[in-house]
Amino acid sequence: MNAALTVLSGQAVDPPPFWMMRQAGRYLPEYLQLRAEKGSFLALATDSDAACEVTMQPIRRFGFDVAILFSDILIVPWAMGQDLGFAEGEGPRLAPPLKAARLEDLQPERSRYLPVWETARKARAELAADKALFGFAGSPYTVATYMVAGGGSKDQADARLMAYADPARFQALIDAIARETLHYLSGQVDGGADALMLFDSWAGSLAVQEFERWVVAPTAWLVDELRKRHPGVPVLGFPRGAGEKAPAYARETGVSALCVDEATDLRFVVANTPDSLPLQGNVDPLALKAGGEALRRAVADVREAMRGRPHILNLGHGIDRFTPIAHVEELVRLVRG
Ligand code: CP3
Repeated sequence: MNAALTVLSGQAVDPPPFWMMRQAGRYLPEYLQLRAEKGSFLALATDSDAACEVTMQPIRRFGFDVAILFSDILIVPWAMGQDLGFAEGEGPRLAPPLKAARLEDLQPERSRYLPVWETARKARAELAADKALFGFAGSPYTVATYMVAGGGSKDQADARLMAYADPARFQALIDAIARETLHYLSGQVDGGADALMLFDSWAGSLAVQEFERWVVAPTAWLVDELRKRHPGVPVLGFPRGAGEKAPAYARETGVSALCVDEATDLRFVVANTPDSLPLQGNVDPLALKAGGEALRRAVADVREAMRGRPHILNLGHGIDRFTPIAHVEELVRLVRG
């Protein structure tokens, strides 16, 4: 049985399948070693043999139920023609930033998706049948915040200001990202991804009406188009920070499952969404980093809130890079018993 796909079909599994956001990454010594050999994150992500290896590392070490394709949400802006780099300690850089340049002047390069699709093919071939392969992309709004600012930004202010000052221009950008993301995700499914996750990491920074227009509407369009092309492939939505707006997000976008961050009360989500809607989340990554009693309590609380509900256990956000491996091993014991 593939436990994660069973849950995504609407059936509860006990103990729940589980994995961790950012499970392939810098807290793992074997990841750091391979990245050092390749020289950079982008060199690693565009070498499909290396990226497949990194996808598999946490599965081999911890036996998680889900492997997440090793890539990044910023591959889409890169394929749309922005330069992409990661400066150590500074986060991602996209150039030119669209607050200063026009989308129409970028030179798209769709061949940049090819190694990622190849990674999906290799990872699916290597994974056992009881493990699921999740593909992913950023949601149009979150990707737009990076494209407009040229990298990460405080409060995503540049993108939010563009959305108010020139909504037609921001809408054109969101539409272009949505079309590109459809193409990127379709290739991941064709490569072998069993399900797709949309990361809307900065959904929580938007005012209510803006959330409807820039998060809900483009996500609903994407989910609809993905369903038409790939019926039967579940789409998980992660509107991080949406809080009380999460139930309406799930209803209006039609996502197959809702991912919940650690600051949102699971009991509120359970009470305000249909019983059949699968949920994913939401152990605090810092409870995992702290370990011990904090971790034990966080896991017990999530399990209790999710009793009987189709649930994929996960963190509420990505694992912190300085989390001890022993705490992840403890998490495996706590979930599997
Ligand atoms: O295990 C996995 O989840 C691997 C696949 C994955 C990566 N990024 C690899 C990666 C996924 C699902 C992502 C998602 C992602 N990327 C998001 C959404 C999720 C979230 O955390 O909110 C966002 C906002 C990004 C953009 C991005 N890419 C950032 C902010 C960074 C960190 C930059 C830095 O220097 O700290 C990246 C780089 C990145 N993507 C790394 C990994 C493992 C670290 C690169 C490295 O230094 O090795």
